[in-house]
Formats: sequence, C-alpha cells, structure tokens
Amino acid sequence: MKDLKSLIDVEKLPQHIAIIMDGNGRWAKKHGQPRVFGHRNGVKAVREATEAAAELGVKYMTLYAFSTENWGRPKAEVNALMTLLVQTIRKEIETMNKNNIKLQAIGDLSQLPSKSYKALQEGIESTKHNTRMTLVLALNYSAKWEIIEAVKSIAQQSKDGKIEPNSITEATFAQALSTNGMPDPELLIRTSGEQRISNFLLWQIAYSELTFLPIYWPEFRREHLYQTIIDFQNRERRFGKTSEQIINSKK
Ligand code: FPP
Repeated sequence: MKDLKSLIDVEKLPQHIAIIMDGNGRWAKKHGQPRVFGHRNGVKAVREATEAAAELGVKYMTLYAFSTENWGRPKAEVNALMTLLVQTIRKEIETMNKNNIKLQAIGDLSQLPSKSYKALQEGIESTKHNTRMTLVLALNYSAKWEIIEAVKSIAQQSKDGKIEPNSITEATFAQALSTNGMPDPELLIRTSGEQRISNFLLWQIAYSELTFLPIYWPEFRREHLYQTIIDFQNRERRFGKTSEQIINSKK
C-alpha cells in the first residue's frame, strides 16, 4: 500500500476529485443484507476516501450523497439515508476539525428534512475556518437543477440592469453555480461499474478525466484512490490541443 502511495507525484495532484458513490444496494444484496447495510458501510468508504485525499493534499473532494432523483426511492430507505447523514455529520465533526477539513454542501438544501438541514448547517458552521481540504456533499443535488438556478440568477441580474447579456462569459456562468469559487474537478470517479454521469456536475466536468471502477462503493479503500490518481497522472490532458503542443508547453 505504501508503495502505491509513493508512486503519486504530489506536485501534480488533482486539486478537486468528484465521486459518484454507487453500488451500496448491490453490495448489501451480495451480502444478503438490506440496502441500508450498504449505505452504513458506504460511510466507512467515505471516511477512507476523505482521509486519504486530505493526507495527499487534495484541496476539494465532492461526493454525490443524495440526488434529486433519490427521493423516488422507498420512503424507509430515504429516511434511513437522511438519518445516516445526521448521525455521520454529528459523529465526524470532531475528526474533521482535528484534521482541518471544511464541510460544504451543494444542492437544494432547503428541501432536506429539518433535522438533516440543521446537522448539516452545524457541521458547515463548525468547520468553516478549516483549510486543509474542503469536503463537499452534494445533497438533493442535480446538475440540471443547478444550471437552471444559475440561468434564473443571471436573467434576474440582467433584468435589474446589473449585467449586459453580451458581456456574459463562462466565468459569469461558473460564478452563478453552487460550486462558485471551487476549481473544476480534474478527476471524476464512479464506482459499481456503471458508466454514466447521472446528472452530476455537468458544467464542471467539461474537461474532467473519468474513471469507472468495477467495485461497489462500500469496497472503496484508499488504495483505489491512490491507483486512480496514478492512472490520472499517466494520462495526457490535452484540452483540445495536440500532443506536440502539450509537450512543447512543458519545455
Ligand atoms: C448509491 O448506491 C449510494 C447512494 C445513493 C447514497 C450514498 C450515501 C452514502 C455513502 C452514505 C451517506 C453519506 C454521507 C456522506 C454521510 P445505491 O444505493 O444507488 O446502490 P445500487 O445502485 O447498488 O442500488
């Protein structure tokens, strides 16, 4: 394990890693257990990923914890997920403060059950001065929702005469998103073998490297993060340019 870590070039870390944590239900089924057993074990993987990323020096990690579409799951599962969220945040605040990790959230938080909303706000408030890494939970999040919200906000600014439609740039738009101020994720990881984006950070992943891991989320360990980062560092990110241009620009 130590060997794998030593293969990482810490000078070339992705600043922001986004993760679609998928496969909790299938993992539970494989073990003959109810779905919530998978979510509980998913929390262990969240801890592993967070600790490993922070230790390496990654600055932002965004986890897709609950999508807008997830409300459509059986009521008992939604309740269990919301309870787990409250318990996890309350339990982990101390460790986050000890490790200098800041908690943030993106999504339509106003629609969360009041207990979850309160625990989340307490976590955000209590960790707001931490600087080592920001852990962003995407909760009741959907990228299309976020994009519509950004459009509404820019349209309103235009109506109020604060912005000229012709002066709208990519930066204007990025500032209107809930990820304002964060670098775009250079790396997106999805577990469970599914190869979809599922309405996650559509604008922000325009140039992200995508990694699909054939393991269920509760099986995710720090070695998976190390290996994914090593693979990321071995890929050439061209941003639409040619290989020669990239090589020459590094000379
Ligand atoms: C996807 O697996 C997982 C989720 C929808 C929830 C993720 C939640 C956690 C890991 C626990 C709480 C997290 C935090 C940050 C406190 P799935 O249920 O879609 O699995 P399946 O595709 O196999 O059914």
